Amino acid sequence: MALLHSRRLLAAPRLAAAASRASSWWAHVEMGPPDPILGVTEAFKRDTNSKKMNLGVGAYRDDNGKPYVLNCVRKAEAMIASKKMDKEYLPIGGLADFTRASAELALGENSEVIKSGRYVTVQGISGTGSLRIGANFLDRFFKPSRHVYLPKPSWGNHTPIFRDAGMQLQSYRYYDPKTCSLDFSGAIDDISKIPEKSIILLHACAHNPTGVDPRQEQWKELAAVVKKRNLLVYFDMAYQGFASGDINRDAWAVRHFIEQGINIVLAQSFAKNMGLYGERAGAFTVVCSDAEEAKRVESQLKILIRPMYSNPPMNGARIASTILNTPDLRKEWLVEVKSMADRIISMRNQLVSNLKKEGSSRNWQHITDQIGMFCFTGLKPDQVDRLTKEFSIYMTKDGRISVAGVSSGNVGYLAHAIHQVTK
Ligand SMILES: Cc1ncc(COP(=O)(O)O)c(C=O)c1O
Repeated sequence: MALLHSRRLLAAPRLAAAASRASSWWAHVEMGPPDPILGVTEAFKRDTNSKKMNLGVGAYRDDNGKPYVLNCVRKAEAMIASKKMDKEYLPIGGLADFTRASAELALGENSEVIKSGRYVTVQGISGTGSLRIGANFLDRFFKPSRHVYLPKPSWGNHTPIFRDAGMQLQSYRYYDPKTCSLDFSGAIDDISKIPEKSIILLHACAHNPTGVDPRQEQWKELAAVVKKRNLLVYFDMAYQGFASGDINRDAWAVRHFIEQGINIVLAQSFAKNMGLYGERAGAFTVVCSDAEEAKRVESQLKILIRPMYSNPPMNGARIASTILNTPDLRKEWLVEVKSMADRIISMRNQLVSNLKKEGSSRNWQHITDQIGMFCFTGLKPDQVDRLTKEFSIYMTKDGRISVAGVSSGNVGYLAHAIHQVTK
């Protein structure tokens, strides 16, 4: 009797909750799936194994596995603090010192585009927000096509960014899972069949998620095909300097396409190369045919941005701008970005040599051939599952690891675990 009574007591609030749900404005809203990468982090946090590794998250870690704030960033922050600047709104297009320096960083200081003023750069909310400004601009003003061709695979957020802006997604071959490297002939073949005047998205360097970039000779061929098909090129450059350690080398493809007369659009992020993840500093650039066109485009970008978020946040842009525009800090930044890239390259080498030490006879060369934060290991979903269950090593199901999460302290453990699930 007592049990029945308590059951009734329990049922009553449940019924009340269901009734209020039915009458809610949002009763029809279904639970969405969790973000695949954040889901990996959640599972990692719950794991109590002291050897656990989180290789899902795309943020740099130092050799102790800790988040890293660059010295040049700390110094820039101190300089900004000492100036006691005001907190007035930035202009709609952002901080001018920042947008000019961003464009120069991407296009090169001696760029003809910059000298002739035939470009516009607006500040965006890091890489994602900048990509989204561009996607909305294309939606409103790119008349010839609504189709955006993405490499297969591409960064997971590209599809929703363009889809939510009203564009339609297509793909071109890019990665060959059999060789864990670039499917160059597949890419050329597919791109040469893209309808003329469509939009193609290219990762400027450190392709995410595969870590596979074209070589300079291959970029040249890609530029030729893109030009022949008269495609609008949208470069996503989220890792300038972070791939090779050299900002100019990483921007080579962007600059080459422009030299070939291709008027690109470009999204940049300072999340990775300055470690400014949460500061949300980024930029969106349109290369135009002349300065007058750039002015018209700029006016429309402002009209687009104003009702989205009115004007961008200033702190990250001030930090990035201070670093880029202060010679000593810029020098220090170039050393620090190289040291991050070098640590990642060194972890790739150590992972391969530890796999050999473990006795693995597999060909792991793709680990060192690939570049940037991510490595597409070629591990199958069941092998990824075993790594997680048996070794507490967390990564996305596609076998992508963030090499930034590997350190000299855990690379041996990772190699051991990978060998156990692949032998
Ligand atoms: C290819 C690519 N584009 C853009 C971004 C945007 O990053 P954020 O918005 O943090 O600058 C990322 C981040 O992972 C990325 O990998």
